[in-house]
This record gives sequence, C-alpha cells and structure tokens, in this order.
Amino acid sequence: RNFKSRTACRNDINRLIAPFLAIYESLIPPEEEKGKQKQLMKLLEKLVSKEWPEARLYLYGSCANSFGVSKSDVDVCMAFEDPDVNKPEVLLKLAEILESDNLQNVQALTRARVPIVKLMDPATGISCDICINNVLAVVNTKLLRDYAKIDVRLRQLVFIVKHWAKSRGVNETYQGTLSSYAYVLMCIHFLQQRQPAILPCLQGMERTYAVTVDDIECAYFDQVDELSGFGSRNRESIAQLVWAFFNYWAYCHDYTNNVISIRTGSIISKRAKDWTRRVGNDRHLICIEDPFETSHDLGRVVDRNSIGVLREEFERAAEIMQNDPNPCVTLFEPY
Ligand code: CTP
Ligand code: MG
Repeated sequence: RNFKSRTACRNDINRLIAPFLAIYESLIPPEEEKGKQKQLMKLLEKLVSKEWPEARLYLYGSCANSFGVSKSDVDVCMAFEDPDVNKPEVLLKLAEILESDNLQNVQALTRARVPIVKLMDPATGISCDICINNVLAVVNTKLLRDYAKIDVRLRQLVFIVKHWAKSRGVNETYQGTLSSYAYVLMCIHFLQQRQPAILPCLQGMERTYAVTVDDIECAYFDQVDELSGFGSRNRESIAQLVWAFFNYWAYCHDYTNNVISIRTGSIISKRAKDWTRRVGNDRHLICIEDPFETSHDLGRVVDRNSIGVLREEFERAAEIMQNDPNPCVTLFEPY
C-alpha cells in the first residue's frame, strides 16, 4: 500500500483553516497555568533543597517544550552531579518528604523503566512526575522548544496531531502506539521536508549550544531568533499541512526501509542503522530516530498488532482530510 501517493489535495482545503486554528487556540493553556506551575516548582525546590542541597530541579516535557495543551501533567527532573546516585533510595525518601508536606496521591514507582515519584498538588490541582538524572530529556525539551520558536505552524500542527492521537487512542505507549514526543519528532521531520522547507535542521548548523550528557554530545544552533523568517517562503496553510501530514504517513512513507531523522533533517535507511531486524523487543516497524540518543528508536514500542492500528488510523485521517465534508469534527471522533 506504499507509494499510492495522493497528488492533488481537495480544492476547498483552505475552508478548513479557520476551524483548525480555532481548535488550536482552544487547546493553548491559559497564562494562569504557567503561574501555578511556577508556584509548584518553588514548593518542590524548597522541599528538595532541605534534604539534597546539591540537587537541581528542571522542567521538561510538554510543560516546557511549548507543545503542552491545557491541564497537562508537569514533568520534573531532579539532577544530581553524581551519575550513580541510588535512584530508588532517593525516590522513596522524596516520597516520604512530599507526603509529610501534604501533597496528595504520592507514589514512588521505583521499578518503572524511568523510575519516578508521582504527586498531586492540592493547592494548584497540578499532577506531577519527578524523575532523577534524566538530563537528556531536559536537553531534548530545549531542542523542541527552540524548533517551535521558528515557525508557528509547528506548534499548530503538533497540537492538532496530539489532539487527534489522544482522541483516537493512538498516544498510548503501553498499548504499542506512540508517545507525544514521537509525534512531535514526526511533525518536525515533516516540516523540514516540505518544499520549500518550513523548518531548518538545527543540528546540521553552526553549534551555538553544546552539552555532553551521559557521554552523548548534544550540540545545535540555538540562536533561533535569527531564523524567525525561515519558513516564510513556504506559504502552505495549516489545513494543507494537516492534510499532507496524514497523507504522508498513510501513503508516502516507506515503512520497510526508512527512518525519519530530525538530526540529519532527512530520511535515512534502516540498513545504515542496522535496524532491519528485531533485536530483543525492538522491532523497528516504524522508525523515528531520537535526535541525541541516536541508537534509540521512538517506534520501538510499536508491535505487529499496533503498527496495523496506527497505519489504519493514518489512512482514516488521510481519507477524512481528503473527502469528509466536516473533517474538523470527524477527525477527532472518539474511537
Ligand atoms: N522523552 C524522551 N524519550 C522518550 C519519551 C519521552 O526523552 N522515549 C522525554 C522528552 O523530553 C519528552 C518528555 O520525556 O518531552 C515527556 O514525554 P511525553 O510524555 O511523551 O511528552 P509530553 O510532551 O510531556 O506530552 P503530553 O502532553 O502527552 O504529556
Ligand atoms: Mg508529559
């Protein structure tokens, strides 16, 4: 079913600009949410510094990468200089401290793939996950946020795609579908590939920002204010882009051979990455390279069954964008 690429988009596509922008705007968090997040961070910093004065707290994930919709959970990373800090021990102690300060639903998940403490702050109503020494996530959060500053169509597209994925039940890594982070990478890749490009490849440019985390060099051009007009030669509307995004994943992507890579700003081959066969639980049925941890395929959670579910959903969305009289409703119908 690959390559039966649709060439012509419906001719009334721009009729959908206003309704898509309305959906985007309804999802933007109100200013007061930022204030509440800051208030919670202050409280956490106070509690943490008493026990671990050397630890630092960073926000990451959707509350810091600018792709968070209203009422998202807050992701916090607690960073220690010591890379070998005993995570379960710290998390159990942290849970104890949080409980005695009356934070609610406190739970230490010490055996998860990414061990965390969960909590709910009754003063702000915010739910929060705290992990330890996941500094790569803090750095990739900055990369995503910097991409979002270059062209507003990225943030619009991500909000619409995330809203679609949540409505359709394909944003559940434990069920073999994709994380929000994976969808953001898919959107960045897609806008890098438009002709003319709407986004540059920041990791392919002069390095103005560089850090080394867990032996991985993370470097890219982060002076994005200088790039604010980058995408303006491309005049595609958000409606055309949503159409083309689903058309790409439904009919144009070569799932058998290709890896999408925002690091290189292009497609690379599975063969070049040795991602052609199953190794352990990594099946590589849809390949999305992490920009810094390049051995990490964000599609590794996808299995034989869920790849079918995902591709059917992309095809459904493409079909709706092409033919449905009311895509802004049908697209987001609960599954
Ligand atoms: N992350 C990562 N590697 C993954 C998954 C996530 O590094 N395989 C990091 C990224 O920094 C990402 C953050 O964890 O921004 C949170 O991931 P996720 O929950 O998928 O995305 P959010 O942006 O927080 O989306 P949501 O609004 O759905 O919570
Ligand atoms: Mg999150």
